[in-house]
Amino acid sequence: MNFLEERILKDGVVKSSNVLKVDSFLNHQMDIELIEEIGREFKRRFANKNVTKVMTIEASGIGIAAFVAKEFGVPLVFAKKSKSINIDGDVFVAEVESFTHRNKNQVVVSKKFLHEGEHVLIIDDFLANGCALQGLISIVESAGATVEGCGIVIEKGFQIGGRAIRNMGYQVESLAIVDAMDAESGTVIFREQ
Ligand code: G4P
Repeated sequence: MNFLEERILKDGVVKSSNVLKVDSFLNHQMDIELIEEIGREFKRRFANKNVTKVMTIEASGIGIAAFVAKEFGVPLVFAKKSKSINIDGDVFVAEVESFTHRNKNQVVVSKKFLHEGEHVLIIDDFLANGCALQGLISIVESAGATVEGCGIVIEKGFQIGGRAIRNMGYQVESLAIVDAMDAESGTVIFREQ
């Protein structure tokens, strides 16, 4: 069991059969020592990649991706969620549907901060159905940049995102993959990796 899996067992709370609360250490209050270790672990897993930029989506991804960017010594750019329908031509845009929140957001990245020929490592806290990740991938590709890989802190292996994005040919590295959870007993079962 790795450091993150241990922490999930210690401090994660299974809210229902498909929602895991990790807000005491990851996405509300943040344990910075842990996030720093997460940054080092992604650097190790993508050490052979030529990463020129780290990308994530607001809000919870930002704090994590910042430590990854520090490890690689590259800038971090985060996609912004925008309700505006008047998106101008200065941004790359993708539509992202959230099954958890049952809403749709347009996510945008300014063309000033993403260029053709860049090599992008995408980071996010959760991978569930993969909509956010697919949106980020489409933004990178529409810029003519390359997705070097996707680093996910917690993948919910019983939802379709991980399989769908690996099937598209991308390297997805998840530090913990939850294959099953039970709210009554609080049990979390991780995939052997
Ligand atoms: P998807 O992008 O993989 O399709 O996921 P989905 O629409 O289901 O997730 C939407 C939001 O819910 C995301 O945050 C994601 O991080 C979060 N999420 C998904 N599953 C869980 C879970 O089991 N536990 C927790 N704590 N969060 C989960 P978001 O809307 O982008 O929020 P934020 O980053 O602005 O906080």
